[in-house]
Amino acid sequence: MLEVSQLSVGYGEFQVLFDISFKVKKGSTAVIVGPNGAGKTTLLKTISGLLPIISGSIFLDGIPIQEKKPHQIVEMGIAQVPEGGRIFPYLSVEENLKMGSFPKRAREKFKDRLKWVYELFPVLSERKKQLAGSLSGGERQMLAIGRCLMSEPKLILLDEPSMGLAPLIVTHIFKLIQDINTQGYTILMVEQNVKKALQLADNAFLLESGRIKIKGSKEEFFANEYIKKAYIGL
Ligand SMILES: Nc1ncnc2c1ncn2[C@@H]1O[C@H](COP(=O)(O)OP(=O)(O)OP(=O)(O)O)[C@@H](O)[C@H]1O
Ligand SMILES: [Mg+2]
Repeated sequence: MLEVSQLSVGYGEFQVLFDISFKVKKGSTAVIVGPNGAGKTTLLKTISGLLPIISGSIFLDGIPIQEKKPHQIVEMGIAQVPEGGRIFPYLSVEENLKMGSFPKRAREKFKDRLKWVYELFPVLSERKKQLAGSLSGGERQMLAIGRCLMSEPKLILLDEPSMGLAPLIVTHIFKLIQDINTQGYTILMVEQNVKKALQLADNAFLLESGRIKIKGSKEEFFANEYIKKAYIGL
C-alpha cells in the first residue's frame, strides 16, 4: 500500500534522512523505532507532504505522492496524528472532530463517522462540548486519533501516541490502535515504547541517524540481540 523508495530528506543544507526504503502492506501495522533525533518525525511529515524531499519517491497504492500537497495527500487517504496529539485547544471536542472530516469522501458520511468515533472513544462523547484545551493528556491523544479517523483514511500515521501518558492509558490507547487496525486500517506508527508497540506490529524498522539499520517482522525484532539490549531493555 505504502512504498517509500530511496528517500532522502533534509532541512535546508542539513540532511536528516538518507536513502530510506521500506513498504507497508495493506491492513498491516508497521512500527518505526529509533533514538531521539533519528528522523522519525521527519519521515512521517515527509509522507504527509509537509516537507520537500531531496530525492526518492513515495507511492500510495502505486501512485507517486512525493510532489503532492498535504491536503491532496489527506484526500488520497493518508492521515497523520502528530507528535503530542496536537488539537485545536480553543475549539470544542466536537468541533475538533468536524475539522477532521474535510476530505470530500468524509464529508458525506460525517454523521455516521462521528457516531463511530464516539463509540470507539465514549469519553469524547461525554465531553463533546468541552474545550479541547482542557482535556487530559490521554483524552487529547484520543481526540487526535478520533480527528484523524474522521477523515476516513486508508493509512494512519501515528507519531508517538504514548508520549507523556500514564501506563494504564498507554495500554488503553494501544488496545484502541489494535482495534482500529483490526477494522481494516493500515497503520504506520513511531514509538519509543518499543516493547508495547512491537506487540501490536506485523513489521518493524529501526531508524538510526537517518538510516534504516534493521527491517524485520515482529518476531525478528523480539529475537534480535541488539534490539533487545538497546530498545527493549532485556
Ligand atoms: N524544522 C527543522 N529545522 C531544522 N532541523 C530540524 C527541524 N526539525 C527537525 N530537525 C532536525 O532533524 C533531526 C531529526 O528530527 P526528528 O524530529 O525527525 O527526530 P525524531 O526521530 O522524531 O526524534 P524524537 O524521538 O526526539 O521525536 C534532528 O536533528 C532535528 O534537530
Ligand atoms: Mg519525533
